[in-house]
Amino acid sequence: MKKFLLLGVLMMVAMPVLANPEWNSEGGEKDEALHLTPDLENGIEVYEVCAACHLTEGWGTKEGTFPQLAGQSFAVAIKQLADIRALNRDNPTMYPFALPEAIGGAQNLADVSAYIAQLPMNPDNGKGEWAEGTEEFAHGKKLYEINCVQCHGEKGEGMEDKLYPVIWGQHYNYMVRQFEWIRDGKRRNANPDMVKQIAEFSDYDMKAVVNYVSRIPVDPELLAPSVDWLNPDFD
Ligand code: HEC
Ligand code: HEC
Repeated sequence: MKKFLLLGVLMMVAMPVLANPEWNSEGGEKDEALHLTPDLENGIEVYEVCAACHLTEGWGTKEGTFPQLAGQSFAVAIKQLADIRALNRDNPTMYPFALPEAIGGAQNLADVSAYIAQLPMNPDNGKGEWAEGTEEFAHGKKLYEINCVQCHGEKGEGMEDKLYPVIWGQHYNYMVRQFEWIRDGKRRNANPDMVKQIAEFSDYDMKAVVNYVSRIPVDPELLAPSVDWLNPDFD
């Protein structure tokens, strides 16, 4: 009897940790990279291999197979890269290209992340189907204000110091996929508070809120001058 009691107490203490051990563990390569001074020139060199999928502009693909990286914050890019190569976030397509053998250690993570962060963003990201004025758009906007602003900011600009990603300007299909994986526990590095916040979201709620996010206008200063812009670093 006593044994079971002890086990019960142990489980109560351990559960919140076990529920998501991978969200943001301390130490290791991520923390090391976050404290290094990035070298943008070297970031260009490291980025070369990434361009095969994320494109030289860092814009990914509009249909959402490859996410836009341009404009993601330095800290979030480092975290995601470190998580992907530590297998805390499954990304079989990219995994071999994210390994230290392929792109080097913490300094190169910092360099490529700083490079990504300063790239001008795609002025024509993939959007959901519901334009402003529709009922679905309004539903998504309301859901966003209630459930997302506290972490991703008023406009989806994210919070770098807390490792909350930039989501404005991101491709709709990519975001739906991530949102669903976070809700359903498939993205293992997901933030447990976000998981809780969206646990009751139906598929319709999910599409409506992501539709809204995909349609938030990005600050023009962060956008490339046109969809035809080519990254001069890769001439
Ligand atoms: C073979 C294709 C491929 C290559 C090469 C590749 N990636 Fe990726 N990357 C992907 C895919 C696919 C995803 C999204 C996976 C998903 O949907 O979960 C991704 C996701 C990411 C993310 C997470 C984005 C986010 O918003 O959370 C980052 C950061 C990233 N890649 C950076 C890089 C960097 C830096 C390189 C080069 C060192 C690179 N990738 C090379 C395919 C690739
Ligand atoms: C408690 C804070 C929090 C709340 C609330 C929250 N998120 Fe997140 N969100 C995060 C964090 C942190 C991540 C990245 C997790 C990681 O590191 O893997 C994330 C990731 C995402 C991603 C994937 C981004 C990418 O680049 O891969 C999307 C899309 C997203 N959130 C949308 C939303 C929407 C829409 C809402 C509201 C319905 C919401 N989130 C509520 C913290 C939050």
